[in-house]
Amino acid sequence: MIWVLGALSFGALVVGAAGYFLTLHEIDEVFDDSLKQTALLLADRDLATALPSQPAAAVLSPSDTESMLVTIARRLDGTLLFSSQPEVSLRFEAKPGLSVQRQNGTDWDVFTVAQSDRVVQVAQPVEVRREAAAESASQLLMPLTLLVLLIGGLLVVALRRGLRPLGRVNSALRQRNASSLEPLNLDGVPREVLPLVLTLNELFQRLAAAFEAQRSFVANAAHELRSPVTALQLQVQVLERSVDPAEKTEAMAELSAGSARMRHLIEQLLRLSSAAPDTGADPMAVEERVSLAAVVKEVVVRQSIDAERRYIDLGAQAGLELTVSGNAAQLEILLNNLVENALRYAGSGGIVDVIADRFEGLPSLRVVDDGPGVSLADRPRVFERFYRSREAVASAESGSGLGLAIVKAIADRHGAIVSLHTGRDERGLEVRVVFPVA
Ligand SMILES: Nc1ncnc2c1ncn2[C@@H]1O[C@H](COP(=O)(O)OP(=O)(O)OP(=O)(O)O)[C@@H](O)[C@H]1O
Ligand SMILES: [Mg+2]
Repeated sequence: MIWVLGALSFGALVVGAAGYFLTLHEIDEVFDDSLKQTALLLADRDLATALPSQPAAAVLSPSDTESMLVTIARRLDGTLLFSSQPEVSLRFEAKPGLSVQRQNGTDWDVFTVAQSDRVVQVAQPVEVRREAAAESASQLLMPLTLLVLLIGGLLVVALRRGLRPLGRVNSALRQRNASSLEPLNLDGVPREVLPLVLTLNELFQRLAAAFEAQRSFVANAAHELRSPVTALQLQVQVLERSVDPAEKTEAMAELSAGSARMRHLIEQLLRLSSAAPDTGADPMAVEERVSLAAVVKEVVVRQSIDAERRYIDLGAQAGLELTVSGNAAQLEILLNNLVENALRYAGSGGIVDVIADRFEGLPSLRVVDDGPGVSLADRPRVFERFYRSREAVASAESGSGLGLAIVKAIADRHGAIVSLHTGRDERGLEVRVVFPVA
């Protein structure tokens, strides 16, 4: 409104000023002409007949009170023949034509005509012309001011009316608390605001989904933690009551295994929360060039003892020049989870290969085992948090079901794609992580 009204007022002022100067120009021409006509007429008159009573000027220019014409006639030697306003004394000049004279602080436009026997001057204060121009400009400004005021008033009304729906959306939003994420009502929302409201509704939907995911994650985590704690409590009770040393030893072993499971679960939870993008800290803040060979080496060395214990042939194969952009620590967590799975689920005596090479020209990490693999039905589900296949739950291997969720989260952060395939000899599992071009 300020801009529109400002522009209108400025325009009105420009029109007023232009009117003033244009009128001044026109008036100059007209008045100069009338000075000249009056002077010429007077010069031709036989002044003797006109004198001494009120003279030609009154006859010649009837409106002379308004236009303030002063006429003066002198002999060539300067003696006054006649003056329409004796109190006005103009310098006697024989120079014919238009001139401007300053007398007692007033500027006069003067037209002089010289005859053989006398000089006639007709004068008019310059002020008269300015006033006439100002008057006509102010007459122009008046309706313009009214127009600006009218438009201003209409603008206020129109803006109030137009913004009312926005106010409604605003108060609807204000009344919400953090948990009310249902979409905003679209009734009566004007076309201009509709995209904004739709975007807000979409945001609400995503927020609701994120809240729900968060809630179920916490519920699942609590549930997963409860089972090992319950088991620990049971073993502690056994320890307290039992007098049999063999039973005590067994309870101690269970205790230690249970607390190891809990520790693993908590570690996985921490890894997931640091890898998942919906948490505050950004592990990708430190981005570097990571050598895939170094990652493979690190993980294989770390897992070699476990592999030996399970009689698994753990092999590694890595192109030295392969690098990706990302975070080494996170990539090690990713590969470690994959190798851990392969060792656990391949079964005693199996073969596990960890390979870093190019897949269709792109840097990739692959872990191939010859275990039971993952059924086609289970493949999409194993990436869900806390999901474990029925076989895995039934097996002796404990796990939290978070490993592949962590793998997926870290891969997402690196722009990599994780896929599951059948492994070696038409059996087992191959997990393939393909990175984007560096
Ligand atoms: N190499 C594999 N061979 C067969 N099944 C696998 C393999 N890797 C994963 N799975 C299946 O996918 C499920 C999910 O794996 P994930 O790593 O997410 O969880 P987990 O291994 O059970 O627990 P965690 O890794 O958190 O200790 C496993 O429970 C298992 O059923
Ligand atoms: Mg796992």
